[in-house]
Amino acid sequence: MTKLTKKDILGMADLTVDEIHLILETAESFLEISTRDIKKVPTLRGKSIINLFYEASTRTRTSFEIAGKRLSADTINISASTSSVVKGETLIDTARNLEAMNPDIIVLRHSAAGAPHLLAGLVRQSIINAGDGAHEHPSQALLDMMTIREKKGRIAGLKIALVGDIQHSRVARSNIYGLNKMGARVVVAGPATMMPRDIEKMGVEAFTRIEDAIVDADVVMMLRIQLERQKQNLFPSLREYAQRYCLNRTNFKLAKSDAIVMHPGPINRGVEISPDIADDSGFSVILDQVANGVAVRMALLYLLSGGNE
Ligand code: CP
Repeated sequence: MTKLTKKDILGMADLTVDEIHLILETAESFLEISTRDIKKVPTLRGKSIINLFYEASTRTRTSFEIAGKRLSADTINISASTSSVVKGETLIDTARNLEAMNPDIIVLRHSAAGAPHLLAGLVRQSIINAGDGAHEHPSQALLDMMTIREKKGRIAGLKIALVGDIQHSRVARSNIYGLNKMGARVVVAGPATMMPRDIEKMGVEAFTRIEDAIVDADVVMMLRIQLERQKQNLFPSLREYAQRYCLNRTNFKLAKSDAIVMHPGPINRGVEISPDIADDSGFSVILDQVANGVAVRMALLYLLSGGNE
């Protein structure tokens, strides 16, 4: 496969194994551009990309903007808080007005699951889901997979543990879809109050003790508690959560001796991950994930723009 035939990137559930391979290989080929003195190629000159973010973001929005600029596209950032959304304009009206300006790609982050799917059926532009509620965050899962391949040489056959607020994590959901397709053994752990009912139907093993999930793991991916999506208190206190679920030097010894530690960010230091684990470059690949995020987003913008046509 040398090109994507999809109009939109909405979720890992929709991507085939061949499409995932194409995106990862394209991203790997783009890595080198970010190491040059002049970090720019003319590939997407004349294309316009709108980053439409209804939720806060540091990594995703910045890396989509940098990705577009490194490919010479014009990138425009719109935050809900500084747009006419605050005057009551709906998502659909906003999208229709942006469509009238004829951009090529709209990157959307929204608190409502399914918002990117709605726009994809409404406007002619390509839509990239940059996170929709607790549903999916496909570009995050792709950069996570790229980082695992870079550090471990493969994904198939690895034991990958996802720990934390599984219920509200779009990162967990996208990684479960993607990693399963790529042949990994995915295990999850978290409090029962933050674990989706029937999670095993997604093809994972589920535990309530972090120790049971990370034993012999090749990859330990820690997840943030998504307080902004929790409608009630799901644990007694952050201190108690940290006592049971924080990755630290003691429980990390249960993983394989060459295991890597991942986190999508933002990190709550001392809650889901202890600072000395997060900052240990011997096994923490958290900033490699961020660097690979630019390459993955360059690949998505390039492939949705027609790739090597
Ligand atoms: N991982 C991630 O989505 O981070 P941001 O919320 O900062 O974009």
